[in-house]
Amino acid sequence: MQKIPEDPVEELRELVDNLSDWLRYQRRLGWRGLPGKVAPPIQDIEKSADRILSLEEIRAEMGDCRRCKLYGGRTRLVFGDGAANARLMFVGEAPGADEDKQGVPFVGAAGQVLNNLLSKLGLRREEVYIANILKSRPPGNRDPEADEIAACLPFLDKQIKAIRPRVIVILGRIAAHALLGTKEPITQLRGHWQKYHGIRVMPTFHPAYLKRFPLERHKTWADMQQVMEYLADHEET
Ligand code: URA
Repeated sequence: MQKIPEDPVEELRELVDNLSDWLRYQRRLGWRGLPGKVAPPIQDIEKSADRILSLEEIRAEMGDCRRCKLYGGRTRLVFGDGAANARLMFVGEAPGADEDKQGVPFVGAAGQVLNNLLSKLGLRREEVYIANILKSRPPGNRDPEADEIAACLPFLDKQIKAIRPRVIVILGRIAAHALLGTKEPITQLRGHWQKYHGIRVMPTFHPAYLKRFPLERHKTWADMQQVMEYLADHEET
């Protein structure tokens, strides 16, 4: 018997996403499109401004970034860490002191909470991708400012396009507000699926919050169960 989709619109969207990924892959292999049809020559695709860049190319484009005022206080730019083809991506807020020193996201106290969560879920850091809204540390870990987010977000968008994860987990209020363009409290956002550029996102608490309020950890655990179930149900993609 034919399966009736739970959400036909959602299924159609996923089909289109998968087809786009496949076509992109074929083009990278050199496919020029159907004879006499519309696909532009591969060189034009390569030149086009919105070509999907590799993570290395995006990092090179950032260079010694001075697009916002944070560069002056930065030790190292924290680009991101993990698998370029990760199915699961985490997006936090901004580097703290440890991350700024090492140039790697979530390596301090909050990072330990995140690492514990990953290992309880049976995931290794190397198989997910971890990035932040900001790539430079705000002084004294203050909240990111609007101009800083505006300068940095395009690079996160490019990373997301390059990785094309099946799910993005948004860690905390600041990242949720920056990505989802809402002011809703994280207590209400968490646990509810949303979309960002057509990709499923799950907002949850920031690991630093969970460190301060360990009794809240079960809520993030529940959010991650939804994520893991979705990934398990869509294993082929
Ligand atoms: N908090 C974040 O949001 N990101 C990090 O990389 C570290 C702490």
